[in-house]
Amino acid sequence: MCTETHAHYDRLAPLYDQNWAYSSDFLEWMSGCILARLQVKPENRVLDVGCGTGLYARRLAERTGSVVCVDPSARMLEQLPDDPRLVAVQASAEDLVVGSPLLPVDRFEAILVKEAIHHVTDRGAVINGLARLLAPGGRLLVVMLPTRIDYPLFQKARERFTELQPDPEAIATAMADAGLAEELSYDEFPLAFPIERYLGMVRNRYMSLLSTFGDDEIAAGVEEIQRRYSGKRVEFKDRFAFVLGTAP
Ligand SMILES: C[S@@+](CC[C@H](N)C(=O)[O-])C[C@H]1O[C@@H](n2cnc3c(N)ncnc32)[C@H](O)[C@@H]1O
Repeated sequence: MCTETHAHYDRLAPLYDQNWAYSSDFLEWMSGCILARLQVKPENRVLDVGCGTGLYARRLAERTGSVVCVDPSARMLEQLPDDPRLVAVQASAEDLVVGSPLLPVDRFEAILVKEAIHHVTDRGAVINGLARLLAPGGRLLVVMLPTRIDYPLFQKARERFTELQPDPEAIATAMADAGLAEELSYDEFPLAFPIERYLGMVRNRYMSLLSTFGDDEIAAGVEEIQRRYSGKRVEFKDRFAFVLGTAP
């Protein structure tokens, strides 16, 4: 993980659930989208790569015995609930696929990578390596934002997002190259926040993208959002790509 990303998540860790939990409705909706695609069964071995604070790992653990939770940020892993079903491993996705025995088991029926693939440097090699960790018939699900987002961010942030965000189609191609049967689908959830809450999230640099802007740029961006959204609430669709690969 690059130093900037590391610093971003170390700083954000204690605030992460507050920013990202949005609402129990959002978490329920997203968990449903993940579970419908991963089809986790009670006896399955499950791996969550880039698990962060375990927002989704803890829900996966309710369906199965235990979940191996991998993240390079010790601060994010510290926020995992104290639950023996969640097995923390401090590592990056890249570390997992170089062959060193970091994981407690060597095959998984389900692997989740939610909103972490954009941090991965060699995405083709990582998708290929994760595909090698799947048991026969196992599923790898990459959940990510599309390259264009409808968030009420300032213009420069939206443009930079489009420049930096990998294309879900490229992830699907990497899965096909790794021998998986790939399937790309999209789902969206309507979000609404009081404007002050959303501006607070932007000031906190709730997305890693916002860590690429300096203090003055964030302050100018907040003013731009205030000018554009003079109402009391911001409303937008949070649209996600779900790239699923199934092993033969
Ligand atoms: C936006 S958070 C997503 C956390 C969690 N999956 C969720 O949806 O709540 C991105 C996570 O990816 C982790 N991360 C950053 N670089 C990574 C890498 N190279 N491999 C795996 N995870 C990485 C960060 O530490 C952070 O916890």
